[in-house]
Amino acid sequence: MELYLDTANLKHIDLVNKLGFMDGITTNPTILSKEESAPFELIREIDEKLDGKIWYQVTGATADKAVEEALTVANMCSNKVVIKFPFTLDNLEGIRRISEKGIETNATLVYSIPQAIFAAKAGATYISPYLGRIDDTGGSSVQFINDIYLAYENLGFDTKIIGASIRNSQHLVDLSKNGIDALTISYANFEKMLHNTMTDAGMEQFQKDWNKIKDL
Ligand code: E4P
Repeated sequence: MELYLDTANLKHIDLVNKLGFMDGITTNPTILSKEESAPFELIREIDEKLDGKIWYQVTGATADKAVEEALTVANMCSNKVVIKFPFTLDNLEGIRRISEKGIETNATLVYSIPQAIFAAKAGATYISPYLGRIDDTGGSSVQFINDIYLAYENLGFDTKIIGASIRNSQHLVDLSKNGIDALTISYANFEKMLHNTMTDAGMEQFQKDWNKIKDL
């Protein structure tokens, strides 16, 4: 399973490098806007620092504009890039054109089986269902992902699924039951999932007991 940090923050990039087990970082315009730098400048800086894949989401409103933006980013990066295309008719063409150039692509904001099928047929390497956002509206993100896997298996697509908008540990518990190709998690949620009150209490007790004997 591939694991990404959903961030464009340079301190987080250092962490991804230091940890050494993550596959890279995923971004979108909202994530880039939090860093208050010119987006291409920031992508360039991330590319210089990061050891891993960089996911960049195109914003161009037409297929030609999105393809041009995708190629600009792919050409400026020495790391492998994944170009994210929000699901639109124009962007299906964009996915097809960029995939044909051997660059990995992702259809993002995928909320239905027809969208998942069309993105796969266009050649998307990945699609991203947004777990948190689906569950916020009363839907079942896990059921949706299982349905996409079944459709892909029956229809013979090898497009991978990356679970996005992961909000809590339960998402990981649910996804682990049936498997998932990739996950992207924000730093805040990653940090939250590292902690468990029993782990913390156990650590505190071990430290106390060690302090009693360490100078004997
Ligand atoms: C993936 O890169 C998505 O853009 C991201 O996970 C969305 O997460 P959010 O719903 O927390 O904004």
